[in-house]
Amino acid sequence: MCESRRDVRFCLFLAAFVILRSGTLVLSAENEGAPASYVGSAACAPCHAGIYESYSATPMAQASGKVGTVAFDENLAQGEFLHSLSGTRFRIFKDQDDYYLEFSKEPSPSSLQKLQGRRRLDYFVGSGAAARGYIFSMDGYWFQSPVSYYSLRRKWDMAPGYEQDSRLDLTRAVERNCLECHASRVQPIWGTHNRYAEVPFLEGSVSCERCHGPGSKHIAGVTNEATPDSRDIVNPVRLDPLRRDSICARCHLMGEVNIARAGRSLYTFRPGELLTDYIASFTWSPAETKAIKVIGHFEKLWQSRCKKSSGDRLWCGTCHDPHSLPTTTARMEFFRQKCLSCHQGSDCKASLLSRTRRSNDCVGCHMPKNRALDGGHTSFTDHSIPRKTDGKPRCKTVTTERTLVPFWGGVAQVRELGLAYAKLAGQEQNGAYETRAFELLKKAESEKADDAEVLFHLGDYYDRKGDEEEAMILYHRALSKDPHLIAAGVNLGVLLGKRGRYPEAIRLWEEALRRNSGLEPVRLNLAKGYLRTGDFSSAKRVLLKALEYNPDFQSARELLSDPRLKSN
Ligand code: HEC
Ligand code: HEC
Ligand code: HEC
Ligand code: HEC
Ligand code: HEC
Ligand code: HEC
Ligand code: HEC
Repeated sequence: MCESRRDVRFCLFLAAFVILRSGTLVLSAENEGAPASYVGSAACAPCHAGIYESYSATPMAQASGKVGTVAFDENLAQGEFLHSLSGTRFRIFKDQDDYYLEFSKEPSPSSLQKLQGRRRLDYFVGSGAAARGYIFSMDGYWFQSPVSYYSLRRKWDMAPGYEQDSRLDLTRAVERNCLECHASRVQPIWGTHNRYAEVPFLEGSVSCERCHGPGSKHIAGVTNEATPDSRDIVNPVRLDPLRRDSICARCHLMGEVNIARAGRSLYTFRPGELLTDYIASFTWSPAETKAIKVIGHFEKLWQSRCKKSSGDRLWCGTCHDPHSLPTTTARMEFFRQKCLSCHQGSDCKASLLSRTRRSNDCVGCHMPKNRALDGGHTSFTDHSIPRKTDGKPRCKTVTTERTLVPFWGGVAQVRELGLAYAKLAGQEQNGAYETRAFELLKKAESEKADDAEVLFHLGDYYDRKGDEEEAMILYHRALSKDPHLIAAGVNLGVLLGKRGRYPEAIRLWEEALRRNSGLEPVRLNLAKGYLRTGDFSSAKRVLLKALEYNPDFQSARELLSDPRLKSN
């Protein structure tokens, strides 16, 4: 069994460095010069009915949606369980058409009150082929449900990443990248981190246009009676290999770390473009000597002899028909035929005895399913296509001598490598990465002095080393380039607060909460700031709000018992 890593979720998320930009798409009248716009999958159905229908049944077409709208049988009869580490009892139940997550916690020495509450789970994320996550909103901001459904076990349990929580956690933001992989035509509110329109996305699927590009011009072309023309649409197989692979990589390339290129937002990526123009993706070198933690299918396939020896001829589409899934009975033969498009059955050198038993099941022996490494009870197919297996994943020990290298045709700038190490240093609390990040980012800053992301991470470095004056200067500079950098504002607020400059700190913290209302430590700081400035009624309002978001927020509860807040 491979070692697990705390921060691995159902999927590894793309770098959170991507800056939010308006993604709302407006349908406009077609004119020659304007780029095509998105029309939605339903518009393709009349002419491509067969594909539309078969695609609708795949997990990608059901990767998210409104709870209760898709036939899916969550086992609600066993919707109750106790998470002993946090002492929380959860119950999932249905009322009319709505699903609710109810939580309760008995009094304990650390919390003398019984806590309870509920959230309405409005949308799901994940088709449920293996698992399904849920999201709910507070004041228009979206958060992840701490409880997920696991289809194979038919059980509700803590969501990946929540198992080790010693208290109830209800304020993890639903970041835009989550929805951009599982849904289409996402409707973010500009300038916020996790606020979306009333309907957060217009399609609960990987829509046709995510692989084929916006379809308005194609439809206008084919319906043009004078000169019908169907060309204005992307067919992945007609693209050059890097552009073709970019389409699947947009969502399936997890990388150890992915860093957005300066000034680029992945959310504007369109099929036909090069993903490497948008992100630099990194993996560890030497790859083979580290435990296989990354579940990205790309990285694994690229490690295989099949891929290394056949190059561009082999891609995701060699084995997968994106519009349909083979049935359970056809599955073995379906994939065997894919292998046989390059291999002969006699290529296999397995001993005759084992081959006669199940010799047709090529993938059964060469692409075994692993238990996922996320503690999330799902399983994944080993895309490194190993020669010899015992039906278990190939795991090797982690070596400490490893460096990040650009993966998949990418060249990395100093800036990107620096940001990649900075991100890992934060995740793994690793001093060596921190130093490496600092050296690289210093260099990047000397080359280009106005990169907000770089300035923020340098500031953070000085902050942690105790050089607060330098940190403040850098945070200031970062914010002046990009006011959306929540962490820069929050951290600067702390340093200002330490210097008694509460009004400035309060302004920064209020601003951070406007972008993401779930930041618990920020709310606590804000309440303390108001207390210091003698604004008791604001302090009380902020603390009550904090408890509304999470009743298990003990520090907020304690602060609320401050006698000065009693009369307000
Ligand atoms: C009014 C009918 C019509 C609609 C609506 C329509 N298409 Fe097409 N499409 C066609 C025709 C006709 C062709 C060319 C013949 C064929 O391949 O079937 C075509 C071809 C294609 C091709 C192949 C192009 C190639 O170069 O190989 C793709 C991909 C495609 N359509 C995708 C879509 C998508 C995605 C949508 C929805 C956004 C859509 N179509 C909507 C009629 C339509
Ligand atoms: C917009 C993001 C996105 C793009 C683009 C994308 N995928 Fe996916 N894919 C997903 C997500 C999300 C899932 C998981 C769906 C679920 O179960 O919730 C998935 C699941 C899958 C699966 C497993 C389930 C199934 O439907 O068979 C395969 C295979 C797959 N994708 C292949 C591909 C290939 C091949 C391409 C490129 C041609 C591609 N994907 C492009 C997001 C994407
Ligand atoms: C970079 C794209 C990406 C992001 C971001 C992402 N996912 Fe996924 N997710 C996938 C893909 C692809 C799969 C299919 C399996 C795989 O490759 O890991 C998947 C699988 C899942 C599954 C299992 C679905 C099933 O039953 O097969 C769940 C649940 C899930 N994701 C939830 C989430 C949630 C919740 C978030 C955000 C908080 C999120 N994902 C963010 C791409 C993504
Ligand atoms: C995950 C990526 C993906 C999604 C989503 C997707 N397609 Fe495709 N589509 C492809 C790929 C790859 C090909 C090329 C297949 C081949 O020729 O091997 C293709 C080919 C096509 C073609 C032309 C070839 C053919 O088979 O007739 C049409 C038309 C088409 N797609 C329509 C659609 C429609 C309509 C939808 C939505 C209902 C859709 N596609 C969703 C990836 C996708
Ligand atoms: C050599 C054949 C082959 C190639 C190439 C291939 N896959 Fe797969 N893939 C499989 C098989 C076999 C399965 C297991 C299917 C099943 O269990 O029904 C699978 C399953 C998956 C799944 C479902 C989750 C899982 O791991 O079981 C996803 C997602 C996926 N592949 C994505 C991709 C992507 C993305 C690429 C391109 C980077 C790719 N695959 C290339 C053979 C392949
Ligand atoms: C696009 C062509 C292609 C496809 C499809 C393909 N392979 Fe391969 N595979 C190769 C090539 C080329 C080699 C290297 C042969 C050599 O070097 O002698 C290889 C090597 C291998 C090896 C040896 C691995 C090692 O580490 O020595 C195995 C096992 C293998 N393939 C199994 C499979 C299976 C199983 C499938 C189907 C799921 C498959 N391949 C699909 C091209 C392919
Ligand atoms: C019962 C398990 C099993 C099945 C089924 C199986 N293989 Fe293998 N295969 C093996 C083992 C084990 C080896 C390694 C033999 C060795 O090196 O001693 C191997 C070796 C290989 C090699 C590398 C041969 C070489 O020496 O370069 C290829 C290619 C291959 N298999 C392809 C396939 C294909 C294609 C299928 C389906 C038609 C298949 N295998 C079915 C277990 C299996």
